[in-house]
Amino acid sequence: MACIKTLLCVGACMTAWSMTTGDTSVPKAQNVHWTSLDFQTILKWTVEESEHTYTVLYSEKNHDNWMDVDHCSRTSETECDLTRELEASDKNYEADIRADSEHLLDEFGSDYDFPHTYAPMFNPYKESNISALEFSLTDVDEGTVILNITHPLTSISEGGKQQTIKDILKNDLKYKISYYKSGSTGKKKKIVDSSSAEVSGLDAGQSYCFMVAAFIPSRPKATQQGAWSTLQCRQGDTHFTQDLSLGAWVGIIFILITVIIVFITATILCCRRNHKRHKNIQTAQSSAPI
Ligand SMILES: *[C@@H]1O[C@H](CO)[C@@H](O)[C@H](O)[C@H]1NC(C)=O
Ligand SMILES: *[C@@H]1O[C@H](CO)[C@@H](O)[C@H](O)[C@H]1NC(C)=O
Repeated sequence: MACIKTLLCVGACMTAWSMTTGDTSVPKAQNVHWTSLDFQTILKWTVEESEHTYTVLYSEKNHDNWMDVDHCSRTSETECDLTRELEASDKNYEADIRADSEHLLDEFGSDYDFPHTYAPMFNPYKESNISALEFSLTDVDEGTVILNITHPLTSISEGGKQQTIKDILKNDLKYKISYYKSGSTGKKKKIVDSSSAEVSGLDAGQSYCFMVAAFIPSRPKATQQGAWSTLQCRQGDTHFTQDLSLGAWVGIIFILITVIIVFITATILCCRRNHKRHKNIQTAQSSAPI
């Protein structure tokens, strides 16, 4: 009899336990993914119900040294900026998004395996996207130009100085230059080491257009190239007349005719007045008593 009682009790307890855990089950974070631009790295996820909070942990891959992110503990946001934590080091990181539940914590303590979702492995140094570069274009001679490339700033500071992508990628950073002659469809590509890049062998007097992008050959193919810059063109020394449209010609002729008419009218008026004044002076002189 005692035995049956115990069994019943165990059964009841188990039902109660499964009911409570059922009630308190917290939905896991979903669609966990990284976005990273110029080494600003953000972990994002989605949630089914917004009343829960989540805590983000991260570790270097295979080190199993899970650390909290101060500003992403019990957060009700669905993203966490890990720029400061991961810096831009060439390391593989993992992150874990743990669903918070007071109830589970009270009942099972912090060692409990909370509902959680691992983020895919991420290496900011190798996988962060690089935004478009800016550059200036200077003619050296008829066949040569220099592109002076400037680097985008990152949100990482070191010693109070905001770092550029060059400060982080150092000698791994190269530049891809794409250029073409105006009116031709063939594009030429060139990869250079220096941010002050010379492009020579251009046809004299022709106009050319240039674009640049960051290029990091040491990275996996998919993330080697940054965004293309805007296009910049050098004007060829085409003759003044060649490029003018019909409208421009009509305008120029109209202005010329107007100028000529004004000039002629002004000259005529001026002459007449002078003539008249001259006459007046003469008559005044002749009528004056001697
Ligand atoms: C980098 O940019 C590509 C194309 O826009 C995008 O698909 C990818 O998710 C981005 N990667 C990161 C880590 O932000
Ligand atoms: C390139 O541009 C930067 C910033 O605009 C300037 O400080 C630098 O002197 C330029 N370098 C050359 C080689 O023109």
